[in-house]
Amino acid sequence: MRVNGARLLADLHALREFGAAGVGKGVVRPAYSEADMAARAWIAQQMRDAGLRVEVDAMGNLFGLAEGPSVLVGSHSDSQPEGGWLDGALGVIAGLEVARAARDGGGPAVSVVSFQDEEGRFGVTTGSAVWSGHLSQEAADKLRDHSGVALGDARKVVPVTGQIDPARFTGFIEMHIEQGPVLDTSGERIGVVSDIVGIRDMKITFEGQQNHAGTTPMSLRRDAFQAVSAFNHALEERFANVVTPSTVWTIGHLSLHPNASSIVPGRAVFSMQWRDGDSDRLNRMEQIIRSVAQETAQARGMALSFGEMLGLEPVAMDAGLRGALEQSAQKHVPGAWRLMPSGALHDATNVSRLMSVAMLFVPSIDGISHAFEEDTAEADLVMGVQVLADAVATLGARSS
Ligand code: GLV
Ligand code: MN
Ligand code: MN
Repeated sequence: MRVNGARLLADLHALREFGAAGVGKGVVRPAYSEADMAARAWIAQQMRDAGLRVEVDAMGNLFGLAEGPSVLVGSHSDSQPEGGWLDGALGVIAGLEVARAARDGGGPAVSVVSFQDEEGRFGVTTGSAVWSGHLSQEAADKLRDHSGVALGDARKVVPVTGQIDPARFTGFIEMHIEQGPVLDTSGERIGVVSDIVGIRDMKITFEGQQNHAGTTPMSLRRDAFQAVSAFNHALEERFANVVTPSTVWTIGHLSLHPNASSIVPGRAVFSMQWRDGDSDRLNRMEQIIRSVAQETAQARGMALSFGEMLGLEPVAMDAGLRGALEQSAQKHVPGAWRLMPSGALHDATNVSRLMSVAMLFVPSIDGISHAFEEDTAEADLVMGVQVLADAVATLGARSS
């Protein structure tokens, strides 16, 4: 099975045109936006051209189905509010290219997927979370984005055809850019994923008293931003005995009300997200977050509320699928690949509830992702898809 590198790269560049923005190869293509839906219509046509039958479920997860039992290959094609051209897109186009290479070269049956809202406009890997049964459609529909739009309303643009039965797939392989510095720093070409970290994510609200920024003495203020600042500072100290160097936590979204220079902010709503490979540690961090928020609220006269806790547990990749990727990596780039954990979340976490899953990484230049600057050398993209194609061919030969 030979991958056509020129066709792969042309498709990646064509997909980037939907929502192209910013410097370099930036993309703005959040879930259910006009650019996202147009991109999905284009991907659906590529799937048909590859001889696959297109189906779209109620969430907007887009499948290109091969006849009979098949391996599922793909990722997502929505982006962060500011993202790059490869995060998710690579896995989807890689799936298409492997399906075409398999058709042209007499390989096994390959189906392709682009999951919806992997980037969590509404939650955490929302489309695959619903498909896998981790999250009910009813609960998902109530989730709201940062501007208050409900998922149930946003998904009305989806051209639904029906539900897709996971039993038709023999396994799932997701190719992705690493999105971190490990491979770029070591000079290695391929990462075979050992496991994917777990995540917790929730909104926290501090409500104080909105007031005049000139006349209100510092000692009398109930400033919601100052509460966030104090919370963040205290959290770092309280985490010290619990976290490891690979634990991460982020306040990535903060909304102040009414967000004006001359008003002491009365309300702060912010996202609190943390990730680690150990579920117990994630739970201990949650307890600390809740108690530091309570102490901060009490000390500063704030009302406090917590939003819904979203999360995914850490998962290990399937040894059999992983072995096929390792063998293929060793054949193509001997000594220049490694086994590594994923610190980024992926649809594969949810899909692992349904079938065996594995993942493959290619390097991210300077380790940058979730930014317009995200990029990977074209030779690495092509090599990675060839490694994937050979692994799929091996698995097909094993099962026949
Ligand atoms: C997925 O994009 C993540 O946030 O890891
Ligand atoms: Mn991704
Ligand atoms: Mn991402």
